[in-house]
Amino acid sequence: MDRVDIRKVLEQGKAGDDVVVAGWVKSIRESKSVGFLHLNDGSTFDSVQVLLHEGLPNRAEILKLITGASLKVKGKLVASQGKGQSIELQPDAVEVLGECDPSSPVQKAGTSFEFLRSVAHMRPRTNTFGAVFRMRSELSFAVHEFFHQRGFVTCHSPILTTSDCEGAGAMFQVSTLDLEKPPRTKDGKIDWSKDFFSERCSLTVSGQLEAEILALSLGKVYTFGPTFRAENSNTPRHAAEFWMIEPEVAFADLKDNRDLAEAFVKHMLEHVFKNCARDLAFFDERIEKGLRAKMEAVAKAEFAVLEYTKAVEVLKTSGRKWEFPIEWGGDLQTEHERYLTEEYVKRPVFIINYPRTLKPFYMYCNDDQKTVACMDLLIPRVGELIGGSQREHRLDMLETRIRECGMDPENYRWYCDLRRYGTVPHAGFGLGFERMLLYCTGMENIRDVSLCPRVPGFAKF
Ligand code: 4AD
Ligand code: MG
Repeated sequence: MDRVDIRKVLEQGKAGDDVVVAGWVKSIRESKSVGFLHLNDGSTFDSVQVLLHEGLPNRAEILKLITGASLKVKGKLVASQGKGQSIELQPDAVEVLGECDPSSPVQKAGTSFEFLRSVAHMRPRTNTFGAVFRMRSELSFAVHEFFHQRGFVTCHSPILTTSDCEGAGAMFQVSTLDLEKPPRTKDGKIDWSKDFFSERCSLTVSGQLEAEILALSLGKVYTFGPTFRAENSNTPRHAAEFWMIEPEVAFADLKDNRDLAEAFVKHMLEHVFKNCARDLAFFDERIEKGLRAKMEAVAKAEFAVLEYTKAVEVLKTSGRKWEFPIEWGGDLQTEHERYLTEEYVKRPVFIINYPRTLKPFYMYCNDDQKTVACMDLLIPRVGELIGGSQREHRLDMLETRIRECGMDPENYRWYCDLRRYGTVPHAGFGLGFERMLLYCTGMENIRDVSLCPRVPGFAKF
């Protein structure tokens, strides 16, 4: 008989069905002469109750097992007398696959998230992390579903790159040179021409520039891949390795870009309501009270739009004491972002048209010559979820901006070619996948929605 997922047993099983399931013991108890164990295989939040009746030949051995042991159970579903489940499993045979040593770090309930980060290899066995990673998988599917439904082409941007998209100098270098004795040029500098790629190479900070290549042939594309940033930001919202979704659309302007971003976020929320109801109910009850209702309000709300210039005025006249005082030309800090979305508009808000000095070279320069046609989507609790812009598609202006940002247009010749040969207005954005997951789970720290988080000082597992 084939093994079935416990999810299927709980959703579709009827009294009288013969089934085989396998999983890990969540809990085990014996009261009076009855023994029960709860078995979970990760296919769903809930566990199936297995009745340890007197007729089981290895009953005594099973009752000695502890949470975490792995079992295979063959038996019949019966109507349950107890509370909490309509069906339970009456086994004919229970095979112990693996005992669990009492030193298991996820034995006890109530261990802190901080402790669990140090045992990230075991934490998916807990209720919380099981739910996080099931939701992560569903959200990932929702991303592909959204773009596929709209006729977008998937673009696999390279991970290794010689271009710096964001120009923030926060790239991890990739090299096969001998770090002890690197080859040197005559003037004593490291000779990158001797390196693997004959030039300096890094891990990508964004798949955007290469996505533009494909968008300017195929029209509508998106990337969904890992990106890497060597910025030393030790915050609950920053990781050194994170996943980003970056659509890029030809013949589109900033308004089209905003509309796409809003529809995309709402699609992901609807997918979660429909497909992650059980896990979401857990987050709602145990992680953030009222989470589902807040998400539903966002899914129905019209996202607000606020000019950067106006946002600065709002912040200056808010009567708040800011830790980081704000002036026109300065970047918005987390405290400002959260005030704008949580208190000023009380819903997601696109802040648009930032000063050009704050933003990367590729953003379209507005007629005022002072601002660029960009957007940051801020959402409650998380802050910046999306950053994007209309792209500078005018060759002369692009070259000006590249120089202005201290870079050499020669190094971006291929990128400028896309403007030289049949340029068109186009736009795109990047959504931080882990930030979306923080929003949908109520979790507070990006380290708790990544399987093996990479942050300054930590790359274990
Ligand atoms: O605003 P960012 O830097 O924009 C870009 O990289 C553009 N190239 C995107 C584009 O237009 N195609 O990053 C986009 C999003 C941010 O809004 C944030 O959600 C997330 O990526 N992000 C991070 N997430 C986790 N850890 C970090 N260190 C992040 N840096 C950015
Ligand atoms: Mg940004």
